[in-house]
Amino acid sequence: MATIDVEKVLSQLTLDEKISLLAGTDFWHTAAIPKHGVPALRTSDGPNGVRGTRVFNGVPAACFPCGTALGATWNQELLLEAGKLMGEEAKAKGAHILLGPCINMQRSPLGGRGFESISEDPVLAGLGAACLTNGIQSTGVAATIKHFVTNDQEHERTAVNSIVTERALREIYFLPFQIAVRDSYPKLFMTAYNKLNGTHVSENKRILGDLLRDELGWKGAIMSDWFGTYSTAQAINAGLDLEMPGPTRWRGGLLGHLVSSRKVPMHILDERARNMLEVVNWCAGSGVKETQKEGKLDIPETAALLRKLAGESIVLCRNEGDVLPLKKEKSILLIGPNAKTSVFCGGGSSSMAPYYAVSPWEGVEAKVKDKSKMDFAIGCYSHKELPLVSNQFNVSADPGSKKGLLFRAYNEPPSTQKERECADEIELDSSLAMFMDYDEPKLKTKLWYATVEAYFTPDRSGEYEFGLCIYGAGHLYVDDNLVVDNATKQTQGTVFYGCGSVEEKGIIPLEKGKTYHVRLEFSSAPTSKLDGDGIVRFGGGGFRIGGAWVLDMDDIIAEAARLARDAEQVVICAGLNSDWEGEGADRVDMKLPFRMDDLITAVAEANPKTVVVMQTGTPVEMPWYNKVAGLLQAWYGGNETGNAIADALFGDLNPAGRSSLSWPKQVEDNPAFYNYRSEGGRVLYGEDVYVGYRHYEAVKREVAIPFGFGLSYSTWKLSDLHVGKSSGEELSAKVEVKVQVKNTGKSDGQEVVQVYVHQRAPSIRRPRRELKGFAKIAVKAGETATPTVEVLLKYAASYWDEIRDAWIMEAGEYDVEVVDGSARQDPLRSTFTVDKTMWWKGL
Ligand code: BGC
Repeated sequence: MATIDVEKVLSQLTLDEKISLLAGTDFWHTAAIPKHGVPALRTSDGPNGVRGTRVFNGVPAACFPCGTALGATWNQELLLEAGKLMGEEAKAKGAHILLGPCINMQRSPLGGRGFESISEDPVLAGLGAACLTNGIQSTGVAATIKHFVTNDQEHERTAVNSIVTERALREIYFLPFQIAVRDSYPKLFMTAYNKLNGTHVSENKRILGDLLRDELGWKGAIMSDWFGTYSTAQAINAGLDLEMPGPTRWRGGLLGHLVSSRKVPMHILDERARNMLEVVNWCAGSGVKETQKEGKLDIPETAALLRKLAGESIVLCRNEGDVLPLKKEKSILLIGPNAKTSVFCGGGSSSMAPYYAVSPWEGVEAKVKDKSKMDFAIGCYSHKELPLVSNQFNVSADPGSKKGLLFRAYNEPPSTQKERECADEIELDSSLAMFMDYDEPKLKTKLWYATVEAYFTPDRSGEYEFGLCIYGAGHLYVDDNLVVDNATKQTQGTVFYGCGSVEEKGIIPLEKGKTYHVRLEFSSAPTSKLDGDGIVRFGGGGFRIGGAWVLDMDDIIAEAARLARDAEQVVICAGLNSDWEGEGADRVDMKLPFRMDDLITAVAEANPKTVVVMQTGTPVEMPWYNKVAGLLQAWYGGNETGNAIADALFGDLNPAGRSSLSWPKQVEDNPAFYNYRSEGGRVLYGEDVYVGYRHYEAVKREVAIPFGFGLSYSTWKLSDLHVGKSSGEELSAKVEVKVQVKNTGKSDGQEVVQVYVHQRAPSIRRPRRELKGFAKIAVKAGETATPTVEVLLKYAASYWDEIRDAWIMEAGEYDVEVVDGSARQDPLRSTFTVDKTMWWKGL
């Protein structure tokens, strides 16, 4: 890809050509204008890796730990490396533009996509996103920071009006984007789906034009979220350069008409086209060819970095009597639905087909010397929809054949009298398929049909429950007997980004060793009976076939507790999964699924040395918290999930993750509790700037896991705090925080020095303290290090002054509090002074 002379090309383009640059051509590509040397660009999700250009039947990819996990590393150098690897992955997938990082705010623990964003704190989120962006863009791949701004819930995401004060907008929601622009300059922004204070962000001139472009001085391209463009002239005039995906709904000929009638002035159209051409030019640096095939970068270096990232994100929350690290030579019992499954990723557009994904069982197995000393009990189920059946089914009647299902697409329904001609045949690895970007030319209309077949030879007898979620319509047969009808009656569910039905289920008895023929008759999206508001209708359709043995939960809990009683070491792999945390729906409560709390309580009572490994992207209630000896928060760790968990369990790494979120004890403690769904079309950000720890600290509400908290297998002592201020102009001055960190334990490790600031006598009420900077530092056992944290004075001191419509840095005293992750000691304290009150805007 050669660079172009943007102004020259712009001057030569026809109106139609300019307009063509402003919308995608398909789900993932922008338009090319070959005669002017303008190539098409490929975009790809994002944010925890690079999925490639197929949601349906995708190419395997490196799945990184989820956003909250990356935030929990608090390691800026490591996130830079992560970004570089994402850039290389993007190149392997032939993508010029990565749709990430994501830095919306976890106002509530219930956010369906909370796991994708970095932190509840704008500074941790902003600095983290800047490192990722710098890494991604160092490879020539452009980063797209998203979703700008206040897309902090899934409920009615396209329709909801987020009502936010200017102060909260600036101090909490806008600030991470501002920091990312200041420190890394992402080439693209993706707009949020929702309205902000009455206007959809994608057509909000104040937000896109006045704040982002004029105030921050940012020059780059702004794209809509997928189907998040809602107007023609208003969006273009407001600053939205690119409508995604294509083909266009709002631009094309319609836009031409509006230009000729000057509803959209030519100079505005030129500005939009220029922004796109600048991105095209910039992306030439990636070296990605326009028609490059999607490939893999599944190499040992990728695995090593993913393992390091997942490992460094793990937060040791509890370690009574030093139950951890475990011993490799002792016997070990793993309990729980997440033990033998790799819960590597949340659900929705960030999910991807991983190169491989290691389960905790496999991670532990790779370390213990005598494998016969490992035991397993499922203990309980944790699924919301029945688990995918892909790894139990075979594509043919031969039980030795490939695992998966055989998919055949047709133009005619199965009821047709004619012989049907198969338009497409694919062996699927997954029993979940979403056809949003499926484009088979032989399928003539949007209404098409598929027969999906598989064979199941159970290794036990009993009652088996099948489940079917549908976006479209479907009937599931076993040996030609109808087991699930998800066509006649459909109820709006949460799968397929909220477009799908509730899972319909059917139970049948199965015999061990007998081979059953399972068949789904599917028809595409137009046959769906569902029609919810505020949902992105992705089109295409989808199906999800699940299944599990019908088990008596009391029995399996009792069995797990019985085994735990005599076990030398017990680990429960608990948590949520992509059913519970995903795009298109928020959680309805903060509880673990079904009987999981009962399981943990029963096992901990049977064996007080029980360790829980929790895998969630956002907080859950943990009523048994004080009953278990150990607790590791392991997030969704990507491909290397199981290996990283095993590294932490056995002490092959010294836990160095610090929580990127506060974990309230119950959802009612959360400040957004009253205001976390669309009510009458709006959501009030009633907690204002008191998001996360800013609230819990203000009202002295004890939380289960504080923001920034995390233990290690070592102990730490901070001392000798020095706070200085550079001389000269205060608006460009820096606060310099220096502290001694001693590793007082017996293991080498890493600690995070966290710098919080509190203004002594502000003119308005401010949070008790706010994170302003941090440093992660590796220190050998018994040794000392002296990290320095530098923060711009104006960022350390200012709040948003709504009367002057600017940041205000007030003259006066500011307390600096420095803590480590363990909170075992009171903060070290010092102060700095601002001499003169000043107002500022911009970066
Ligand atoms: C999501 C975006 C994503 C896009 C493309 C949307 O549903 O909100 O984050 O990048 O789809 O998959």
